[in-house]
Amino acid sequence: MIKVSSPGKLVLFGEHAVLHGKPCIVTAIDQRMFVKIKRTNKDISVKSSQMGINKYVISLKELKKKHPKEIRFVLKSIENFFEKYKIKSGLKVETTSEFSSKIGFGTSAAVTVSTIKALDELFKTNMEEKDIFELAYKTVLDIQGLGSGVDIAASTYGGTLYYKNGGEVIKPIKTNKIPLVIGYTGIKADTTKLVKKVSILKKRYPSLVNPIFDLLEKINKEARKAMSKKDYKRLGELMNFNQGLLSAAKVSCIELERLINAAREAGAYGAKLSGAGGGDCMVAVVENRKRYDVEKAIRRAGGTVIKANLGAEGVRLEK
Ligand code: MEV
Repeated sequence: MIKVSSPGKLVLFGEHAVLHGKPCIVTAIDQRMFVKIKRTNKDISVKSSQMGINKYVISLKELKKKHPKEIRFVLKSIENFFEKYKIKSGLKVETTSEFSSKIGFGTSAAVTVSTIKALDELFKTNMEEKDIFELAYKTVLDIQGLGSGVDIAASTYGGTLYYKNGGEVIKPIKTNKIPLVIGYTGIKADTTKLVKKVSILKKRYPSLVNPIFDLLEKINKEARKAMSKKDYKRLGELMNFNQGLLSAAKVSCIELERLINAAREAGAYGAKLSGAGGGDCMVAVVENRKRYDVEKAIRRAGGTVIKANLGAEGVRLEK
């Protein structure tokens, strides 16, 4: 039996802009997705407790069929892996997660990366991180049709990364522990819908939306400087700029704004949504002596505070 795990992610700067050629900054969090796998004589059986799937069994021939969305990423990963390495085998797969699939930490990416790594260990195919990233990215695109792959990069490589669409650039950023508070709105974001919304807005107002992306790129550069100087006040203020621009691109929502404003009022240096927007999570940079107040304010505003450390290790084999 092979067991692997990979981390979830939080986008710190540049979401959406990354799909339009601009860089973003993502960090891996220490809440992980686990995949256990072993060979069997025939059939592929998948159990995915966090998705409410107790047992789903198919024959090898049925791999190419359409499967329930809860386990589509696992089965597509197996299909793509078998195709790449000309393998046929029965399998027993089990996935469990330390984070809910509803909060925007990148469940699909993490389960895809973990499944591919588990298969690599099981069949000794010696994949490098880059191979895992590429096959996982192909798998996610096969299913979703769009996405920058930023969540896949975080799950694969871990740490905090400077990232460009499709993995054109994936560079680790050295940072100390950023003092962050994470607030969850309780609403599941529809990433595809929000991504399309931004593209439509860009088509209608290219002369306004393109400069927004240009500004987001400048913010990204400033943010990397602030991180290297551990200037968290500045980092928070840069988040406020980033949030204002995402708001202008209409991907924020009242629930996010409520938590973001509550965090700022309670003394955070700055706050913004993280990921696609329209729900999921917000993040705030907070000096330690204000952490308690900010967390309390987020809860009072209807949010749930999620504890996680940043810069977690990428995909790994578990004992
Ligand atoms: C979602 O976490 C980040 C987006 O930029 C989408 C993507 O990069 O695939 C909104």
